[in-house]
Amino acid sequence: MIRSNLNSDKYIQAGLDIGSDKICCAISEIDLKSDAIKLLGLGNSQATSINRGAITHRDNLIDEIEHAINEARTMSGVSIENLSLGISGEHIRGINTQGAIAIGGSQASNVSLQNEITNNDVKKVLELAKAISLPMDRDILHVLPQEYVIDTMNSIKDPIGLTGRRLEAKVHVITVATTAATNLVSCVEELGIRVENIIYQGLASSLSTLNEDEKKLGAVCVDIGASTTDIVIYFEDGVQHTATLGIGGASITNDIAVMLQIGIDEAENIKRKYASAKASMSSPDLEFELPAQNGNLKRKISENQLSQYVEARMAEIIQLIMKEISRANLNDKLTFGMVLTGGGSELKNLSSLAQEISNLRVRIGHPENISGTVDIASEPAFASAIGLTKWKLTEDDLIIKNEEVTISKAIGKVKSLFKELF
Ligand SMILES: Nc1ncnc2c1ncn2[C@@H]1O[C@H](COP(=O)(O)OP(=O)(O)OP(=O)(O)O)[C@@H](O)[C@H]1O
Ligand SMILES: [Mg+2]
Repeated sequence: MIRSNLNSDKYIQAGLDIGSDKICCAISEIDLKSDAIKLLGLGNSQATSINRGAITHRDNLIDEIEHAINEARTMSGVSIENLSLGISGEHIRGINTQGAIAIGGSQASNVSLQNEITNNDVKKVLELAKAISLPMDRDILHVLPQEYVIDTMNSIKDPIGLTGRRLEAKVHVITVATTAATNLVSCVEELGIRVENIIYQGLASSLSTLNEDEKKLGAVCVDIGASTTDIVIYFEDGVQHTATLGIGGASITNDIAVMLQIGIDEAENIKRKYASAKASMSSPDLEFELPAQNGNLKRKISENQLSQYVEARMAEIIQLIMKEISRANLNDKLTFGMVLTGGGSELKNLSSLAQEISNLRVRIGHPENISGTVDIASEPAFASAIGLTKWKLTEDDLIIKNEEVTISKAIGKVKSLFKELF
């Protein structure tokens, strides 16, 4: 984070979203007082070397990251030295857990000696809550407080300054495969840029698209990317459930390519131009021409026929999202329903289909509360990159920083191993 040329209420933050379709770097000026984001620069490059969060070609990926960062730097006129990095993939897991401590030691049995809860107590209880048994190959990414309980009082959001004998923290812990995180970090650090935070992409998207009421009264944020779909469920101002599905908009493109026997690029164009998530909302009379292949004659197909394939696949994705909501046992709590974001949410009539299947209120989530280069930045595909720049230094952030040290240490270990070997 660079605070140098700005007053203490404002700072500049860069976010890097490494997706399977595009790599996007956003540079924003954040106003801590009003929570407003002024987008200073946005850089993009086509991603060809990552699939479902796994790197398929490291050197290409580094070039693509460099291109996106340079574009954002040129547009903003800001030179960045560190950034927040987004991570996604089927290796991401979320669990709910808790921890409790006694406040004020043995004296706490005497009511008159009850102690005030301090920042230190909160840190201690969060440390305990995150003490879950993890396999060697996993790391904790986030410890997100849901609520604190002091003795019998629950639903407390900020316990500091209150008194009691026992403090309990209920948290949502997000873990990642260490290798996936270290590999991504090392690609960015190869360019001389320090990774300051690693943030779950689904969480970043929810930060830029959900409003406070939605987080409080219940909503699910779904970022439909090309090869992953990130799901984050909020209720009572806390993250209650997270999940990542290894499916996204690319599956629809693949279906179109296979069904119509055309190339992936053509299928992608056709999807964006003519496909509807609900076949009944597309016309059987409007036909478009398919490119001629192998000397065959040009063929025609109606938008309705095309949309039938698309609807079948999209319905499957929505059913999988609904399964996650059921697993979280929060079906009746989602007053504000579903917020769909990510490039995949731009499919025509998607909110109607999602509403029909889920029986929930559905809206498309655009990055909100931003100024600056708003026209391009308001596309749902940029929700994650912009959300990454919004990540603030909160209490749970401190914990992430600790974990980041663990991940950096792991990279250090790999580097020294290489030195020993060669
Ligand atoms: N207008 C549109 N209609 C339908 N689909 C679209 C449209 N625009 C983008 N998409 C789809 O959105 C997907 C890309 O979304 P996004 O840019 O959010 O992915 P990503 O972040 O790179 O991928 P991931 O998060 O899975 O790693 C692609 O599958 C693309 O086909
Ligand atoms: Mg994405």
